[in-house]
Amino acid sequence: MQEFKSAPEPAPVRAAPPAETEAPPVPSNGDADAISAAVEELKVSDEPAAAPSVSASSAAAAVEVIPDAPEDEGKVVETYRKLLEEDPRDHLNVVFIGHVDAGKSTLGGQILFVTDQARQLGGWGRAAVLVRAALMPAVDKRTIEKYEREAKDKNRESWYMAYIMDTNEEERVKGITVEVGRAKFETEKRRYTVLDAPGHKNYVPNMIMGAAQADVAVLVISSRKGEYETGFEKGGQTREHAQLAKTLGVVKLIVVVNKLDDSSVVLEGGQWSQERYDDIVKGLTPFLKTAGYNPKKDLTFIPISALSGQNVKNRASKEACPWYQGPTLFEALDSVEIAERPPTAPFRMPIIDKYKDMGTMIMGKSEAGLVSVGDVLQVMPNKLRVKVEAVYRDELESFAAK
Ligand code: GTP
Ligand code: MG
Repeated sequence: MQEFKSAPEPAPVRAAPPAETEAPPVPSNGDADAISAAVEELKVSDEPAAAPSVSASSAAAAVEVIPDAPEDEGKVVETYRKLLEEDPRDHLNVVFIGHVDAGKSTLGGQILFVTDQARQLGGWGRAAVLVRAALMPAVDKRTIEKYEREAKDKNRESWYMAYIMDTNEEERVKGITVEVGRAKFETEKRRYTVLDAPGHKNYVPNMIMGAAQADVAVLVISSRKGEYETGFEKGGQTREHAQLAKTLGVVKLIVVVNKLDDSSVVLEGGQWSQERYDDIVKGLTPFLKTAGYNPKKDLTFIPISALSGQNVKNRASKEACPWYQGPTLFEALDSVEIAERPPTAPFRMPIIDKYKDMGTMIMGKSEAGLVSVGDVLQVMPNKLRVKVEAVYRDELESFAAK
């Protein structure tokens, strides 16, 4: 049976102080400064009970273990069951990282094109963004033709696929990603959120923001003559991004060797160069090993063309790549094993960002447990107790998130 592992989801949570908080009274308007000021005095609630070990290795298995869960966890278990009923598939955040111009946005655009999905606008779940996202058309042939014309006008002919992810004018004119692009797609096995990070060194802080939310990283390498070399040099973002992703807790890395169709490396007759591919794999492996990735368990290498979509969802043609028998990118993503997270463990979520919106919206990737509307949580390190007023998963309001 295909193993489904419980995986984190971005779980923006609107938190406001609970009505029943002990004295001193906590301001109810969610004003972060006032809340912080009140924090010192607050008594801390008891430490949460240790989490029982519950296997969530598959939807079916997870339902089986539910009756064994202790009585007082009934509500959590029921919420978990409802979440599974809604969609038993895992959700994974996938960040695209790598040197500038490696083809990350092109790959993101191609994935949306082949899965017929719309790019999501904006960052986290604000109502205005939700409305606009809902109105975005799926990426169809006509949209692509429009982007082709726009890219041509800007003297960036080959950038039309990247335009699907790079939506603002500055990004399109310069041909570089600035903000982390977000998009969703799904396979039969899993649901994915793509986080398309910028490769340019000026925007490393944005890349960190993307990688911090990710379960898996796709490291995009350009095999084009000179581009692989520059990216991998000291100070190139191939090294920096791979290292940062590891530091930020991303343990699995899929390395896609891209642009094998480029005229600087392609063989006569159009076949992709196995020699170029092997050289790149051999060059990167020792470095990635030093960075902490286990080549046997944590790394997968795939030759691809993001621009023509070969080995992305569909297998590369025999003419282009007769020498590769491994998985496509979609197959590799579907088989990545992610550490299991027991649903009945106390809820834990590092806060990545926040903003005020009738309370305080906090964003992050859930690392353990479930969060439901009405829960009372404790914000560390100042031990502030807050009540959950709304939960958003991938910008859509929900009753709970895991
Ligand atoms: P930043 O966001 O600025 O880091 O760049 P990026 O990694 O998102 O690269 P982007 O997708 O913008 O692509 C850069 C250039 O590479 C564009 O001209 C693409 O058309 C080209 N490119 C991407 N994938 C391929 C490919 O598979 N083959 C060829 N020949 N060109 C590609
Ligand atoms: Mg980009």
